[in-house]
Amino acid sequence: MSRVESGCKRVIGLLTVVTVLLAAVLHRLENWDPSAAPSMAHDMQALQERFTQRRRSCFVLGASGETGRALLRELLQRRLFSRVTLIGRRKMTFEDQAYENLVQEVVDFEKLDDFASAFEGHDVGFCCLGTTKAKAGTEGFIRVDHDYVLKSAQLAKAGGCSHFSLESSKGADKTSSFLYLKVKGQVEADIEELGFDRFSVFRPAVLLVDRQESRPSEWLARKFLAPVSYFFPTAMSIPITSVARSMVVNALVGGEKKVEILENKDIYNLAKLGENKSQK
Ligand SMILES: NC(=O)c1ccc[n+]([C@@H]2O[C@H](COP(=O)([O-])OP(=O)(O)OC[C@H]3O[C@@H](n4cnc5c(N)ncnc54)[C@H](OP(=O)(O)O)[C@@H]3O)[C@@H](O)[C@H]2O)c1
Repeated sequence: MSRVESGCKRVIGLLTVVTVLLAAVLHRLENWDPSAAPSMAHDMQALQERFTQRRRSCFVLGASGETGRALLRELLQRRLFSRVTLIGRRKMTFEDQAYENLVQEVVDFEKLDDFASAFEGHDVGFCCLGTTKAKAGTEGFIRVDHDYVLKSAQLAKAGGCSHFSLESSKGADKTSSFLYLKVKGQVEADIEELGFDRFSVFRPAVLLVDRQESRPSEWLARKFLAPVSYFFPTAMSIPITSVARSMVVNALVGGEKKVEILENKDIYNLAKLGENKSQK
């Protein structure tokens, strides 16, 4: 081997080591949140017990969807609420015994006022409802992601709900020129106007999930994002289980703000907090 060749090999080796080290450092930095752990150093177990004793109730919109199902699993595992109501357009079937005490309200989202009683008497509302423009067309998308969500929030507020948790999207902005982000931002703003005691907005990036339904563009994005998310877990994507866990943990830990916006990184950190403490 010539000296030039061996020199090149050494440089390439060195560059590889530097790249790996740099990626590892960035990975740590990205996940290092000095404020999160100490300020939320609750004893999750004790919090959970106290919360359970209050015998609160909640409803879930979109429980048949990917996030909704993960959220439901998390809720039932932690047994935080004395009553969990699923509000959806169809009845779901479950085989596991853990699901046997669920209340299911089947509603017609086009006539939600006729189903106001389904929303009554819940302390917390979780909303993971949504469709896509590809599936429902522009009008259908606005109808579901804005109109159904807002109407549900209105009925929940009228029915006594004090904490509404909404799964929105990274980049939600009512002034955006992109329909998706505009609709998400608009519904956030309209729900804020309702004046819940507490309104939590979750803005996840691309959801990492093995979706039951085929969505080719999402599948492609996932394939591309998998290696990126290994080194930079909060940069462009988030596992669906993290979103679900963070929504539940957030309800549990309480909050000082009337309106709180949790961006992708906040969601990730909150989910991690719930993960660590629940495994104690
Ligand atoms: N995909 C992403 O990467 C991404 C990223 C950030 C935020 N988000 C947002 O996160 C939320 C949840 O996403 P996801 O992927 O978990 O949802 P999903 O799996 O598509 O589930 C959507 C839920 O909404 C219900 N729904 C849809 N159309 C409906 C209609 N016309 N009438 C009544 N119910 C209807 C579905 O009920 P059925 O089961 O009966 O259809 C299901 O329960 C959405 O708002 C989405 O925009 C998604």
